[in-house]
Parts: sequence; C-alpha cells; structure tokens
Amino acid sequence: AVPVILDCDPGHDDMFAILLAAAHPRVELLAVTTVAGNGPLEAVTENARRICTLAGLDGVTVAAGADRALRGGQRTAPDIHGESALDGADLPEPAVPLAEDGAVAVMARLLEKADRPVTIAATGPLTNVATLLDRRPDLTQRIERIVFMGGAAGRGNTRPLAEFNVYVDPEAADRVLRCGLPLLMCGLDVTHQALATPEVFERLRAIGGTLPATCEGLLRFFARAYDEVYGMPDPPVHDPVAIAAIIEPGVVTTVEAPVAVELDGTHTRGATVVDLHRVTGAAPNARVAMHLDAERFWDLMLDAIRTLSR
Ligand code: BDR
Ligand code: CA
Repeated sequence: AVPVILDCDPGHDDMFAILLAAAHPRVELLAVTTVAGNGPLEAVTENARRICTLAGLDGVTVAAGADRALRGGQRTAPDIHGESALDGADLPEPAVPLAEDGAVAVMARLLEKADRPVTIAATGPLTNVATLLDRRPDLTQRIERIVFMGGAAGRGNTRPLAEFNVYVDPEAADRVLRCGLPLLMCGLDVTHQALATPEVFERLRAIGGTLPATCEGLLRFFARAYDEVYGMPDPPVHDPVAIAAIIEPGVVTTVEAPVAVELDGTHTRGATVVDLHRVTGAAPNARVAMHLDAERFWDLMLDAIRTLSR
C-alpha cells in the first residue's frame, strides 16, 4: 500500500476523499491533517473528526494545521459548503481525538519515521504543505510526491481564472509548484468530470445504511449549492479524484507541463498558468490531469463507501 498523509479542509468533497483513502487497501492512511479553507480551521477540524467517527476510523491521527494563508487572510466557502462547511446531514459527535501537535509537526514526525517515501495528498489550500517544505527541507527526500486537488488549465471557479484552493493561498501553491518534487495536479479540468449524476445518487442509495444516507444528504446539499452558484445540478466531487489517481494512476490521463501561479495580476491572482503547448520554454514541473475515467472513478468511490458501511 502507498503511505499517504491527507491534508484537507472538509468540506463535502473532502469527506469523499477521506472515505476513499481510508477504505482502499492500496492506501495506508497515516494521518488526516486539516487546513482552513472551506470553513475556518475549527470547523473543518471538527468535521474531519466527525467524518472519521462516522466511518469508524477510530485509529486515524487527526491534526489541525494553518488557520490562515501564508500571508494572512482567510477566505471560506459558505456558499458552497454551508455555515458548518459540511451542511446537509448530521454527523456524530467527534469521538476521534485531536493530536496535540499541529499538522506540520505531525507530518514531519510521520516522514521521519516512515520506512519508505510518503505521498502527500492535498485537497485544501496548500498552506500546511508549503510550511512543511519551508520548515523541514531535510525531509523533502522522504516525500514520494505531492498529489493535489487545485488549480485549472482552463477556467477557475472562485475567480474567472482561479480555482478555490489556489486562490485562497496562492503563495503556498507557488511554493509547492516550485519545490522540485514530483507533482500531480488534479485541477478543475479533471474534477469537473467527476459529476454526482442522478445515477450516482441511485447507486449510493442502493448501498443502504447510515454512512451512504449521510453521504447522500451531504451530496444533495452540495448539488443544490452548485446549481444555485454555478448552474451545475450535477456537482463535481473534486477531492477524491486526487485519491483515486493515487490508487489507480490510469483513472486519470495526464500531461507534463510547466505550471506557474499568478501571484500578482490585476484580475488573475491565484490563477494556475498551465503551459500545455510548451510555448514558454519553461521546464515542466508537474503532471496535470486532464481526463477522468468517470465510470472507474465512481466504481472506486462507491466501493469505498460500501466497504466502510459493512
Ligand atoms: C476545491 O475547493 C473546495 O471548495 C473543494 O473542497 C475542493 O477542494 C474545488 O475548487
Ligand atoms: Ca477541499
């Protein structure tokens, strides 16, 4: 199994990422670390613990990280995820403890003691990951690669050209994109193919039980929000795409490309500038996922929920 630290900001789709990482035998989930994003840090951390409790992941380490972007400031997404950052269903009170150390310290400790390089999966703003890279350059070789949901080669969702996770902390995304490690970017190009269609809802309901019912309630809220804000009645379930790409690399089709983050720009701060046609002459620094095998993706996702429901 691939040892994975999942850094996230749950968040509806982050929940699906946690479930997939926890359930699939090809992932050894070392920790779930949290970062302010979809909601303030306290909210997303509480959500992470509730999700782990609901899914019976009693042994998993949960640690809280950054409560604001590298340069300060915090932007959340209540329009999409509600006031709790996970509106739409009642999750159990958190029974899974919160680690005393912060996310970056927990990540560093896990990297230090790992017997093989660890994959970092990031499905929130990249603040914690950037801080780890800055604070502990000695641990860089212990990271196998960073797989993140964020950015877009095409259009954005929070600004016309900026995706939420990158827009919230562009300096952190820039730090990660220039770190020299193997990177896989799962941006909106590919996550907008992971749509929760009526068929997905049907298959979820057919599993039966508390976890699928909770997932359904959450997805219904998410679908309504996406329809209101973006006119997309079948919402894109972004974050688990990054986990699916770790489990089964062939689920996404990727291209190697130079990717830069716009840090200034009058209208474009937080945009990921993906040089797909290699017109800049810059060296490629990331693989960028462009196509998703949506059928396979949903098979993996629904199997995970089925496994955790047993
Ligand atoms: C990303 O932003 C968040 O709202 C989602 O959880 C996902 O990680 C999509 O732009
Ligand atoms: Ca997220």
